[in-house]
Amino acid sequence: MNIGVVVGGYSDESVISIRSGQLILKNLDPDKYTVYEVRILPEGWYVLANDSKYDIDKSDFSFVKDDKKIQFDIAINTIHGTPGEDGHLQAYWELIGLNYTGCGFYQSALTFNKRDTLSVLNKFDIPKAKSIYLSKGDAITATEVIATLGLPFMVKPNQSGSSLGISKVNNPEEFDAALQKAFKEDSDVLIEAYIKGVEVSVGVLNFKGETTVLGITEIISHNDFFDYEAKYEGKSDEITPARIDKTTEDRVRQTAIKAYEALGMSGFTRSEFIIMEGVPYFIEMNTNPGLSPQSIFPQQAQHAGIPFAELLESEIQLAQK
Ligand code: DAL
Ligand code: MG
Repeated sequence: MNIGVVVGGYSDESVISIRSGQLILKNLDPDKYTVYEVRILPEGWYVLANDSKYDIDKSDFSFVKDDKKIQFDIAINTIHGTPGEDGHLQAYWELIGLNYTGCGFYQSALTFNKRDTLSVLNKFDIPKAKSIYLSKGDAITATEVIATLGLPFMVKPNQSGSSLGISKVNNPEEFDAALQKAFKEDSDVLIEAYIKGVEVSVGVLNFKGETTVLGITEIISHNDFFDYEAKYEGKSDEITPARIDKTTEDRVRQTAIKAYEALGMSGFTRSEFIIMEGVPYFIEMNTNPGLSPQSIFPQQAQHAGIPFAELLESEIQLAQK
């Protein structure tokens, strides 16, 4: 069976994706699978094998090596951000009939859009922060935001990952810079009330046919919030399992499973919550969660005592259905 481990992407998260791909490449049994690393980057789509590059034929996602056309049986999608986390590649693979891991194209597009995710979750009993949605050109003052959401508040690009473009606004003077930073990443921005509490990150996946919570990790950022630096440059402590009481833990588990199912997720995901007064507030859903050495999902697998190769095998089985 030929497997393409697809990494890269067009966003600033491509470096993280290439790191995530290494964990996948390390955990696929070479006796069982023929594995290739496929890089999808702004400069081109190619297979990287022994330092040589082979261009991908976009008509069928194949490539030619030693005069032989090679086609994949499965794409293991490890791209963060566009075009691998927002449904574009998924829709393309659907069209050409290639099996792929993770969520379908619609669910990926939906959950990459923070506003639309929240609007679907409105139908379910899942607590969320109050928010305001802005498109480029919409005008709102800090005073108006504070009147609705209070202070501090969060400013986020509607579609982005790894906290790129996110700011916490602690006083009205910081609002303009925060908006500019968020609009650099996306044409739409979500402003959310700041929930003060314990932040947890919850790995959820479909494991051997069951929606399963892999682990609950508590995040303590050394920065003002869990930003890019805190995520990847060691400026945070991550504690698995989170130090929460049993009742809160059960509530987090139930809410995370409910969100996973409500959003029609499949495969590996990681959802974020902030627990305030025992109530987990939904922050966001990540499909294709990071698998870099600093990332939470692999740490949870290790803590749960499930070899990563076993999780991957379950993903491959699911992708073939
Ligand atoms: N977007 C990053 C990679 C994550 O969710 O882990
Ligand atoms: Mg995210």
